[in-house]
Amino acid sequence: MGKYIIEGRKKMIGECDVQGAKNSALPILAATVLAKGTCVIHNCPKLSDIVATINILEYLGCKVKREGHTVIVDSTGVNRHDIPDKLMHEMRSSIVFLGAILGRLGKASLSMPGGCEIGLRPIDLHLEAMRRFGVSISEEYARLECVCEKKPVGTEIALSFPSVGATENIMLLASTATGTTTILNAAREPEISDLADFLNRSGARIQGAGEGVIVIEGVPELTACEHTVIPDRIVAATYLTAAAMTNGSITLNNVIPAHVGPVIPVFEEAGCDVCIRGRNIQLTAPPRLSCVRSVRTMPYPGFPTDIQAPIMAMTTIAEGTSVIIETIFESRYKHVSELLRMGAKIRVDGRMAVVEGVQSLTGAKLVTPDLRGGSALVLAGLAARGVTELSAIKHIDRGYEDFEKTLSALGAEIKRIDDEDEAYRKDYESAV
Ligand code: UD1
Repeated sequence: MGKYIIEGRKKMIGECDVQGAKNSALPILAATVLAKGTCVIHNCPKLSDIVATINILEYLGCKVKREGHTVIVDSTGVNRHDIPDKLMHEMRSSIVFLGAILGRLGKASLSMPGGCEIGLRPIDLHLEAMRRFGVSISEEYARLECVCEKKPVGTEIALSFPSVGATENIMLLASTATGTTTILNAAREPEISDLADFLNRSGARIQGAGEGVIVIEGVPELTACEHTVIPDRIVAATYLTAAAMTNGSITLNNVIPAHVGPVIPVFEEAGCDVCIRGRNIQLTAPPRLSCVRSVRTMPYPGFPTDIQAPIMAMTTIAEGTSVIIETIFESRYKHVSELLRMGAKIRVDGRMAVVEGVQSLTGAKLVTPDLRGGSALVLAGLAARGVTELSAIKHIDRGYEDFEKTLSALGAEIKRIDDEDEAYRKDYESAV
């Protein structure tokens, strides 16, 4: 697995464009299975999770072409309802294919998304919702066999938690179900609205996306359309954190500031100057960051769990004591042990982390625990004294396009060493 070598203490200064949102692109690409014909999806980030999604689409019978950040999917030939275990396991969020395949073919066979990265990530809400449409589900050898004997029938579904993935699966299946579906306590994340925009463009009738109640009036079928994915609010917040932690000053282009809104007050509390103009956000860091009293992760429009790890990295070098409470995922503190190796002072008690800011972190040899935890460690390395070596960076490739290139352009000293390069370097070193 590749690694990053980071020489810390360089200020992040300059401007950068923000990539398209991974968490929008994935469900929208899955949704192309439902929209017969050729869909053109712009602003898809170049990420390993997108490659994994394209692999699944091709397996199902779609013809897929990539032109830069545009993915063109012809779903005319969809003829398979199963996703092999290997493809399912490449990407945990492949469960969002469930609603799309069921809606198109009336049956779906998928393996349980396995393993544990940031928590148990059960799919009970997805399955319960599918059953309410009349889908029968059995589990055989850790595979889910889902069959809808008759056309799915619209229904009312009250989610006990506003799950993003479950809301997406319900929207997908409801779009071509008979009658009306109402989702109560739906997820309100911007990625839900983006998926609804794509589906509506394809002929669906979805109202209320972005609010707690979504009403979907089923239509006989969806037809292909062209769509541009929204900018990635998590990536935007990550680059803002990089500037905040390095006494930097950064301007982000191509963002929807309202989507980053829940994070801005935290930067301001830390003493950063944040200025929003149109689709740009400018952040200038203070000479020394202040602690943040309390950050509690919540469903949107609360503080996003995906930016908890980077913000924790920021608080490790802020003056004073910060408190972070992770309410969404039960195991999303895997970056803590690595930050401790850099000299951070963090105590974790259940879902609460108390961070006592230190003057400076020190570079160390670290292992990437998961996607966002990994980006947090890169940021910590950028701010630390000395050299940080971060291995297993393939997790970071799942969510950040050209991470090291963007950071280098802003002034970072960060080098990527991929496996082949590493082998080559070792051969070279042993030969000379
Ligand atoms: C999505 C995002 C992820 C983000 C998360 C929360 C994608 C590809 N991923 O993940 O980056 O961190 O939203 O904003 O969009 N839960 C259940 N049963 C279920 C489903 C979920 O108990 O059937 C629980 C989960 O274990 C978790 C919480 O609900 O504790 C939130 O999960 P959910 O909103 O479903 O997140 P994802 O869609 O997996």
